[in-house]
Amino acid sequence: MSVHSQAKRVTVPQLVAAKGERKIAALTAYIAPIARLLDEAVDMLLVGDSTAMVGYAMPDTLSITVEMMAAHSAAVVRATRHACVIADMPFGSYQQSPAQAFANAATLLSAGGASGVKLEGGQALADTTLFLVERGIPVLAHVGLMPQYVNTMGGFKAQGMTEAAARRIMDDARAHAQAGAFGVVLEGISEPLAREITAALPIPTIGIGASPACDGQILVTEDILGLSGERIPKFARRFADAGQVIQQAARDYAQSVREETFPTLTHCFGVRSEQ
Ligand code: KIV
Repeated sequence: MSVHSQAKRVTVPQLVAAKGERKIAALTAYIAPIARLLDEAVDMLLVGDSTAMVGYAMPDTLSITVEMMAAHSAAVVRATRHACVIADMPFGSYQQSPAQAFANAATLLSAGGASGVKLEGGQALADTTLFLVERGIPVLAHVGLMPQYVNTMGGFKAQGMTEAAARRIMDDARAHAQAGAFGVVLEGISEPLAREITAALPIPTIGIGASPACDGQILVTEDILGLSGERIPKFARRFADAGQVIQQAARDYAQSVREETFPTLTHCFGVRSEQ
């Protein structure tokens, strides 16, 4: 019975209560070994649909499915005890109707074990947030640069740079807060706008390419670990070069195999140890 470990996991109400008290640290996680390493350090792990691009080398986030997200979420939940795990609703799994959203969000909670879902969208999706929240599914809204809107945005571009666009994003964030979202991810928007939204909303804002004033921050884990290649986004910082460590380990292993220094008999079964 997991009552003990559930009691230790950060809850959605605890994330909400953090606003104005302490910053929320969040990272993405898609697989068990990475989730296990991140768990104690952060308040929230997001099973992001960014795994489409980061984990599956897809060109955008549009092709990942509910079943794939549920499987990733379940792996992250099984590997962790502390962080609140939130799963992304993939493209096409919630935009059609609140009822469609509920069915798929329920799968992310029941099969995926997540404590809540994240969905991208402006005011048009606020009814969906309300529908989910009223039925027991915590919602983290995502406004500003919304990768699932890559085709309408014409690329992954910072948003809210004109006064009118900024007002629209403010209204989007307000609509989700009023609908009961427990937080709002602000991605790729102008810094003063992110600051203003953070001051205006009663719920936490989680920034990525937004503002240090946000109530919390999230980054894609591979970006902070040096696992996303040479170039990282302007808004990220590389905190370690795990890529270099992994590359060197692979070279050392391959060299040992070729030089026949690995494996040795100590790595084999059925070998009698010397008396
Ligand atoms: O999918 C994702 O990883 C995200 C974060 C970058 C916020 O939406």
